[in-house]
Amino acid sequence: MNFEQIKEINNSSAMPTYGRYDLAIAGGKGAVAKDFDGKEYIDFTSGIGVNCLGYADEGWADAVAVQAHTLSHISNLYYCEPTAKLTNELTKATGFDKAFLGNSGAEANECAIKLARKYSYDKYGEGRYEIITLNSSFHGRTMNTLTATGQDALHPACFAPYPQGFVYCDKDIDAVKGAISDKTCAIMMEMIQGEGGVIPLEKDFVNAVCALAKEKDILVIIDEVQTGIGRTGTLLAFENYGIKPDIVTLAKGLGGGLPIGACLCTAELGSVMGAGTHGSTFGGNPIVCAGASYVLSKVNSPDFLEDVKNKGEYMRQKISAFKNVKSIRGMGMMIGIEVENKTGSDVVKKGIENGVICLTAKTLVRLLPPLNITNEEIDLGLERLKEVIEA
Ligand SMILES: Cc1ncc(COP(=O)(O)O)c(C=O)c1O
Repeated sequence: MNFEQIKEINNSSAMPTYGRYDLAIAGGKGAVAKDFDGKEYIDFTSGIGVNCLGYADEGWADAVAVQAHTLSHISNLYYCEPTAKLTNELTKATGFDKAFLGNSGAEANECAIKLARKYSYDKYGEGRYEIITLNSSFHGRTMNTLTATGQDALHPACFAPYPQGFVYCDKDIDAVKGAISDKTCAIMMEMIQGEGGVIPLEKDFVNAVCALAKEKDILVIIDEVQTGIGRTGTLLAFENYGIKPDIVTLAKGLGGGLPIGACLCTAELGSVMGAGTHGSTFGGNPIVCAGASYVLSKVNSPDFLEDVKNKGEYMRQKISAFKNVKSIRGMGMMIGIEVENKTGSDVVKKGIENGVICLTAKTLVRLLPPLNITNEEIDLGLERLKEVIEA
């Protein structure tokens, strides 16, 4: 098929939920994507933070293929080696006690919401179910996680009624104090609000929230769906803040290109979700877990993470010297660029014409390159991006 044929059959058969750019990718290697005419692009998006080892990483593809030839699925009624191995590796790598595996970021957050509510119910009884989230946050598209998302624009009347039990506040400790009531069981936040505009939380604010939460036995849930698995130069972004949350959620990069979600919790919460309280048909799928184990074995190494930090810093320095760049935000290889005379979407469209693929985050340009992108790929991509931003 050529691009026009793909576009035509897609538009005539798929629900029009996505505003797609005029591009279809046929394949790729590392950070280089190729379209159906053979044109190459430097991909600074990793499929929105998913392909953290780039396209067609040999080790990841082998791990997935071997598992596909051995056992593709069995169900959670039985034990399964790649699934057991991944939960063990995840808890060891992160210092959490238990993990639940699902298929997406939203599902990881759904598990976190249920876990927080049940912990509170078991300990305090009915009525302590509210979860505080921050304005400009993004936590997913299921009804609960959409409601948890602190963006009015994503809560149109057509989807009402929304579930109860979510309260929003600004990134200000007094606002958090004001939002807490005798109904509060948890506060959920991203360390860097990704979809909300690449907005890192202030360290003092995060530490004050955690101290307050501890005092009131309110659980701290950190949504690391976008920031986790090395994206910010540490395995988990909250390590940069010196905190230890009760629950952390992961997805995107953990799968390296296959759908996964993980909800991890401390020992105190480890036995809250007993048999029958939660589940997922595909959660912990052996093929997905084999790929995720491979990703974790690569990313969770001091040299790899140091490299992410250095490459992120290098990109930031180069971009800040571009004409028309107003400001740069983010951490590691999660980069938000505010451009003087263009919207993020103008830059993305022109970037595609110029052979570089970027993302937007609100009005910003957002970059989430593969974590193992080479220096040559960075330089070529930035050269192309510079031409677009400076035009
Ligand atoms: C911070 C955060 N949480 C949750 C989600 C939802 O993840 P998914 O699309 O895998 O359900 C996203 C997706 O962008 C995200 O960035």
